Amino acid sequence: MKVIHTKEGLTDLIGNYKKEGKTIGFVPTMGALHEGHLSLVTQCKKNSDVAVVSVFVNPTQFNDPEDLKRYPRTPEKDCALLETAGCDVAFLPSVEEIYPEKDTRKFDFGYLESIMEGAKRPGHFNGVGQVVSRLFDIVQPDKAFFGMKDFQQVAIIKNMVRQLNYTLEIIPCPIVREASGLALSSRNALLDKEHKENAPHIYATLKKARELASQMSVNELKKWIADEINRNPFLETEYVEIVDDTTLKVINDWKEEGTKVACVAVYAGKIRLIDNIVF
Ligand code: PAF
Repeated sequence: MKVIHTKEGLTDLIGNYKKEGKTIGFVPTMGALHEGHLSLVTQCKKNSDVAVVSVFVNPTQFNDPEDLKRYPRTPEKDCALLETAGCDVAFLPSVEEIYPEKDTRKFDFGYLESIMEGAKRPGHFNGVGQVVSRLFDIVQPDKAFFGMKDFQQVAIIKNMVRQLNYTLEIIPCPIVREASGLALSSRNALLDKEHKENAPHIYATLKKARELASQMSVNELKKWIADEINRNPFLETEYVEIVDDTTLKVINDWKEEGTKVACVAVYAGKIRLIDNIVF
């Protein structure tokens, strides 16, 4: 595996692969890698000749400076994991490398950024758009792989790909969970023992909610989910939303067409976790 820190180094390498007619698969990450990321690398390897993974904690997508400060950073461990997962190129740029000057671009994701994560984390998706477009420009991938835990992010990235006329394919990949049901997330490393033990209650509630969906209205079920999560003294629900899986339009009635996804953001102490389930 090659470890690259500069845009120039990566551009040269990618240029050579392209000359050889190889397809480039890309997995953008913020590091503190876990099995969820490694499953994206596996998919990337299966579907492309060269697997490139970036490890970059992007400051522009953090609306809370404390959250940015405490975000876990484990670059050596990440490189070791990527090597065993079959990654060909690990790209670990510095902040100056990605943002030699302040990125002043403003994306307009319209309705997609007006709900859930977009509403609760102002500026977050603009920062995601900034970094992912920069990384796409550098890596020039044919395919890029994103986890469905960040369900709304996938919709935002697909929209950005259309807005900026990228020709690459976005491949969403399933959520990977611990045996307890807790969705894998780099933030799980920040949970203390008690919160870690209680966090699986989030997915257990979502699974129960899927069973109860036929017995309640959409709004009753949303309230039930929030109350059920909050019954656990270690958890505090920030939002519950049930949306269409492609348009993200909020569902008001089960009779509405389309696949429905229940999405939650929950505080486990100071750590904010998100999860979702397809109904
Ligand atoms: O999902 C993430 O880890 C980040 O939002 C991403 C896509 C790597 C951009 O920084």
